Amino acid sequence: MGTKMELRDKIALCEGKNFWETKAFPEYGIPSMFMCDGPHGLRKLEIHNDHTVVNASRPATCFPAAVSTACSWDEELVGQIGAAIAEEAADQGVGVFLGPGVNIKRNPLCGRNFEYFSEDPYLAGKLAASFIKNAQEKGIGTCLKHFACNNQEYKRFSSDSILDERTLREIYLTPFEIAVREGKPKTVMCAYNKVNGTYCSDHAELLTGILREEWGFDGLVMTDWGAMHDRIAGFRAGCDLNMPGGSNYMVQEVLAAVARGELAEEEIDRSVERVKKMVHEAVEALKSKASCDYEAHHELARTAAEQSAVLLKNEDQILPLKEGQKIAIVGQMAKNMRYQGAGSSHINPTKLIHPAALLETGVGVEEADVAVVFTGLPPEIEGEGFDRSNMEMPAEEVKLIEETAAKNPNTVVVLFCGAPVETPWADQVKAILYMGLPGQAGGAAVKNLLYGAANPSGKLAESWPVQYADCPSATYYPQRDGQYREGIYVGYRYYDKADVNVRWKFGFGLSYTEFAYSDPILDGETAYVTVTNTGCRGGAEVVQLYIAPPQDGIHRPVRELKRFTKLYLQPGESRKVRFDLDARCFAVWDDGWQVPGGRYTVLVGGGPDQLLVAGVIDKTGETGKIPVWQRGSWYEKPSGSPTQEQWETMLGRKYQPYLLQKGKFTINDTVLEMKEHSFVMKALYWGVKRMVARKAEPGTAEYRMILQSSTGSPLRTMQIFSGLKANLFQGLLAMANGKFFYGLRLLLKKGSSR
Ligand code: BGC
Repeated sequence: MGTKMELRDKIALCEGKNFWETKAFPEYGIPSMFMCDGPHGLRKLEIHNDHTVVNASRPATCFPAAVSTACSWDEELVGQIGAAIAEEAADQGVGVFLGPGVNIKRNPLCGRNFEYFSEDPYLAGKLAASFIKNAQEKGIGTCLKHFACNNQEYKRFSSDSILDERTLREIYLTPFEIAVREGKPKTVMCAYNKVNGTYCSDHAELLTGILREEWGFDGLVMTDWGAMHDRIAGFRAGCDLNMPGGSNYMVQEVLAAVARGELAEEEIDRSVERVKKMVHEAVEALKSKASCDYEAHHELARTAAEQSAVLLKNEDQILPLKEGQKIAIVGQMAKNMRYQGAGSSHINPTKLIHPAALLETGVGVEEADVAVVFTGLPPEIEGEGFDRSNMEMPAEEVKLIEETAAKNPNTVVVLFCGAPVETPWADQVKAILYMGLPGQAGGAAVKNLLYGAANPSGKLAESWPVQYADCPSATYYPQRDGQYREGIYVGYRYYDKADVNVRWKFGFGLSYTEFAYSDPILDGETAYVTVTNTGCRGGAEVVQLYIAPPQDGIHRPVRELKRFTKLYLQPGESRKVRFDLDARCFAVWDDGWQVPGGRYTVLVGGGPDQLLVAGVIDKTGETGKIPVWQRGSWYEKPSGSPTQEQWETMLGRKYQPYLLQKGKFTINDTVLEMKEHSFVMKALYWGVKRMVARKAEPGTAEYRMILQSSTGSPLRTMQIFSGLKANLFQGLLAMANGKFFYGLRLLLKKGSSR
């Protein structure tokens, strides 16, 4: 205690002990702390040094994934889930858990969209803030991730997200900003990718300039697992904790940089203090044993699944099903629903109820009053580490729906998937109930929803395009680098502006009851509207407020979500809703947040096609500087995909793709890419593939993720994950670069450290 910490120990404290723990230094009075995934429930693994073990965790409540809870539009509910996960964390001795994820759903094919909330930054930010605040009230830390612009799984370790400042601020940083300012997470996780040429772990502007200095973040930044690019730049940038652990060469580099006076020891001290603060607070919080009721959490998971389900279609009010009706149950997802996503967010549930276990079956499709098809995306199609290759459902699932609908006109589809799918069959069925990935109690939730014990109240948190080709980024997503050509026109911001018809709009969702809106008014910058339940069932309604900004100045979306709330109304009950606006509701990013002058219309209502005008607000001042390139550009009138040239004109610079060159490979390159040019890397790839096949069954999501994460990560990350010595990778790299014998010598060198 009180002993002065050696520099070497300081550096060591700023890297993980293993996959899930920080290092203890009893001589300085520093204990160790445990952290684990994740966003929808705990994944506490008992094995601490092997990243290929994904699914063998301690049982914990598997809540609906963010793809579902976002559709609840219910801050309180999402907060309750955060608090429940924190209680389980406390119960299992976990000081910080790694969630929530607030990355924007830029393109529906991103394999990890199921872990994220929305295509809209405000909705994503508000839900995440509530999750964080409520979880941390239990004393447990959260980790907001993945900061920033981590919007594709394809080449996720090495891709460079290239985008203009306005898009970065208005779309991709806003959810993080809201979550940081309002939720105050104890930790933030930096992403694997680069942003405009700089790895997130080294990104001083992101990690210090914006996160700490602008937004007031006072917690700790940790890397995503294996994301540290350059330890010296990382310390300078404010990247405090290197997870899951460092490589000795990084330690040596830091020691040498301090000795040479290139890195001030104070820059390391800052990180040391933050690690100590995080660990001490966690250890303190874990001392008081809070109560943890797993049964109650299962019930919360069920309520959450009910509140998050979206009724997309309900012709002839075929739902809810009536008692006594003969029901046919079709589809293997009745017995084995898809209830969570694959990858680091995978949870080993405390219990699991599939719909078939709760529903009366027995009649065939032809004798049934109603045929219910349980279908969706199988797990091997979407997951962490890889993107989907199209937006279709498997042909056999589509065939099942079509055949059932042909036999029985009263066909209902219950859909389980973590992202939108094409639904060319939608007109052939009477009702569609979208469950997303509803968690371990999804089966009970489905039963309650189908029979009306629960009333659907979810609204879509992302647009459902008719076909993938309708997405603005469809022609250039994904590539090694994320070319954010569509700029701010993501999701509904594009479909509205380009006037493209979608299957179901952002904000849409039906109910078993009806809501009427009346008396929309605007008093200064406060909007009011009265909502009445005019149907004969109790139900919850999401009230949305959009601002339609002036269209004659700097280019802007047709309308943007700025406020929302959810309320429960008994039949006949009315409530007056109040929304207070602020300057940010009207602002654009133009070298800072500016409110362009002009007329703003305030719209309120229960969905995209039921909005009423509450009033208009005239803002005086400049109309927003119209950039010279804007006139007549794609961004003024978007249609289809913008070309690289149109984007470069907006960006103000030429895009230079990364060139992988044999002879110039570095430790930042991946086996997956180098194998195309090098026999040695091809051999390494096959070796790793065989090893992965021994850990997971080929073809499964788990297998795909481990293979992609192993061979698609840079050699420096592979080294951290494998714990193998640096000379091994340097040797292989030299060999791949054509220096075979030199490489071999390095490979055979003895005594070299990690
Ligand atoms: C994921 C993170 C996760 C971490 C630890 C990474 O591969 O990107 O979201 O928290 O692993 O499992």
